[in-house]
Amino acid sequence: MRVIVTASTKGIGYGISKVLLENGNEVVISGHNGENLANALNNLKNYGKVYGIISDLRNINDVRNLIDKSVNILKGLDAVVYVAPPPKPGNFESTPIEMWDDAVKSLLLSAVWVTKFSLPYIKESKGSYVYLSSFAIKEPQENLILSNVVRISLAGLTRSLSKELGKYGIKVNMIMPGWIETERVEEVVNSRAKSEGKSSEDIKKEIEKGIPLKRMAKPEEIGELVNFLIAKNTYISGASIPFDGGLLNSVF
Ligand SMILES: NC(=O)c1ccc[n+]([C@@H]2O[C@H](COP(=O)([O-])OP(=O)(O)OC[C@H]3O[C@@H](n4cnc5c(N)ncnc54)[C@H](OP(=O)(O)O)[C@@H]3O)[C@@H](O)[C@H]2O)c1
Repeated sequence: MRVIVTASTKGIGYGISKVLLENGNEVVISGHNGENLANALNNLKNYGKVYGIISDLRNINDVRNLIDKSVNILKGLDAVVYVAPPPKPGNFESTPIEMWDDAVKSLLLSAVWVTKFSLPYIKESKGSYVYLSSFAIKEPQENLILSNVVRISLAGLTRSLSKELGKYGIKVNMIMPGWIETERVEEVVNSRAKSEGKSSEDIKKEIEKGIPLKRMAKPEEIGELVNFLIAKNTYISGASIPFDGGLLNSVF
């Protein structure tokens, strides 16, 4: 299948792209930093047919260009996997008002733009959308006010689109990751270690102790789920799936 994965030069998006390539899909990866994109392409080319396009998800023209160029390269489109740029941490009081505009573009409007511009092609292929959000949309997390508040809209988008687009054979799902081992999480762990005067290993152990499965997941593990969700014969649509090792406390 022909797939676009956004924000995929590193971390979760990269891991998903790797697994999709290993499973015989053609993948366009993207990010807003040229050097990161070149490095990712260099590594991923060992796994299959991969292409790269520079695209800042906060810029509507970049997003339009990403879709147009991808469709041109792939000669159509079967699935879009939307990963958002990481939001800035902070609580309500410490977050300047201007950062809200940026967060809405990064975490919500970019998903709307990606979907709007790709829809004609996804309709043609009876394809699918997978949005990556965060477990924080179900249970707000400390110091992540932008993520807690803005990302929840993706749940509404997922359910609304699954209803509206199902008649075209299009599936729409969302994955809510918990702790996934990426560079960004390493930074979070290191900064917590510094502020609490502990080692990074101890902080990681503390976090893992609180996860029922007692470990963080690898980005590639999310890739396996995405590969399943986008398969033509998968019957799941409109679902918001936790990928958190049992971390969430709520029943629904
Ligand atoms: N890791 C976790 O445990 C976890 C849990 C829940 C949710 N999430 C969410 O999942 C997403 C990915 O997280 P991650 O841990 O994989 O982060 P990461 O390792 O830091 O990777 C972030 C990716 O986003 C790209 N990116 C950053 N700014 C961008 C922009 N303006 N436009 C397009 N691409 C951009 C980066 O590439 P360039 O810098 O090259 O552009 C990179 O490929 C984030 O939204 C994060 O909040 C992560």
